[in-house]
Amino acid sequence: MNAVNIKDEIFWVGVNDYQTILFEGMWPIDQEGVSYNAYVINDEKVAIIDTVKSIKADEYIEKIKSIIGDKMVDYLIVNHMEPDHSSGITELLAEYPDMQIVGNKKTFPIMNNFYKICENLHEVCDGDTLCLGKHTLQFFMTPMVHWPESMVTYDITDKVLFSMDVFGSFKAPVGSIFDGDNDLAAFEEPTRRYYACIVGKVAGQALKALNKLGGIEIETICPSHGLIWRDNPKHILDMYVKMSAKETDPGVVIAYGSMYGCTQKAAEALAIALKSEGVGEVKLYDVAKTDISFIISDIWKYKGLFLGAPSYYGQIFPKMANLLYKLSEIRVDNHKVGFFGNYSWSGGADKNFNAFIECTKADTIDEILMIQGTPDEADVIKLKALAKKMAEAIN
Ligand SMILES: Cc1cc2nc3c(=O)[nH]c(=O)nc-3n(C[C@H](O)[C@H](O)[C@H](O)COP(=O)(O)O)c2cc1C
Ligand SMILES: [Fe+2]
Ligand SMILES: [Fe+2]
Repeated sequence: MNAVNIKDEIFWVGVNDYQTILFEGMWPIDQEGVSYNAYVINDEKVAIIDTVKSIKADEYIEKIKSIIGDKMVDYLIVNHMEPDHSSGITELLAEYPDMQIVGNKKTFPIMNNFYKICENLHEVCDGDTLCLGKHTLQFFMTPMVHWPESMVTYDITDKVLFSMDVFGSFKAPVGSIFDGDNDLAAFEEPTRRYYACIVGKVAGQALKALNKLGGIEIETICPSHGLIWRDNPKHILDMYVKMSAKETDPGVVIAYGSMYGCTQKAAEALAIALKSEGVGEVKLYDVAKTDISFIISDIWKYKGLFLGAPSYYGQIFPKMANLLYKLSEIRVDNHKVGFFGNYSWSGGADKNFNAFIECTKADTIDEILMIQGTPDEADVIKLKALAKKMAEAIN
């Protein structure tokens, strides 16, 4: 894709990345890619908002030149130092060595550490403005959404918010970067998966940031990943408000691990019982087969959660431990949670589930149901009772 005009002197100069397999080294993006959005404001003074991941710097600089020709870049605004947006800075500086780098007091130490850049720095504070000629930009600090130095940039003139990772999404837009040209339903899951895995831990700060921005009039939202919201910014605003407030839909995710099928049998019995209790959406995931990002995305969506795993050398099945670790970080405090474990000797999985409950203060529907080996008729009755409690709890 070439550079794209967004409004007046504002252009998209971002890139799509289909090369990276794991975002942040762990979240699969090999199927649909991701975009790193960057922007140029070609005013009397030329400002660039963010760079892109360095593997794509050539394409990014080519796009900038297609807009500004031989003009120099006056400002590079660094909304966020995470290298998916900042690592192209070395290449950009090589091209425009005199540009001023705009950031806040937490931006520059990270920049110096990553790239040994400590000159031509222009420090801004919350609410500060920068005039480019026709356009005036205003900066708002949004600490910890996503990193300590995170900030957003607002174009007062055109009412455009350059929102950094906020309102971002996995899935590289194909053919058009604008919301109005894309199937928004197809972006719902990638947006939620991005939110749950990347921003989920700082959902509270995200909500604060949204409230802070509530006072400004926003016509267009230009995030660092995913679609540009020009036709219907309310769509993504509403979705983010809902996700930040941890509002859930009725439905249950059953995430389980199983070496030899005993825990799996219990999980399936729960699914059947939930359905006969009238639960509309029941999602069954094997934690060893489905990447946890997809499971966490659905957990963020649905109110009910069952976690099941066998014991493993006095502890829990390691792939479940991995999910518990991430869930304890993002918390499941608006959920109803049930647990089922399995063992042959003296257990172990229950220990980790108990520690998880203690640490997260999870709203449990019942005690942990520990089953020895293959679930028998008595176990199935207990599983049915557990499913009934869950169905009641989420309604
Ligand atoms: C490597 C390994 C370690 C295990 N560690 C424990 C354990 O610490 N405590 C226990 O009671 N059972 C332990 N077991 C037995 C399983 O937890 C038990 O057989 C369970 O029913 C398996 O459930 P699954 O069929 O869902 O994998 C272990 C099994 C394996 C293969
Ligand atoms: Fe980030
Ligand atoms: Fe990002």
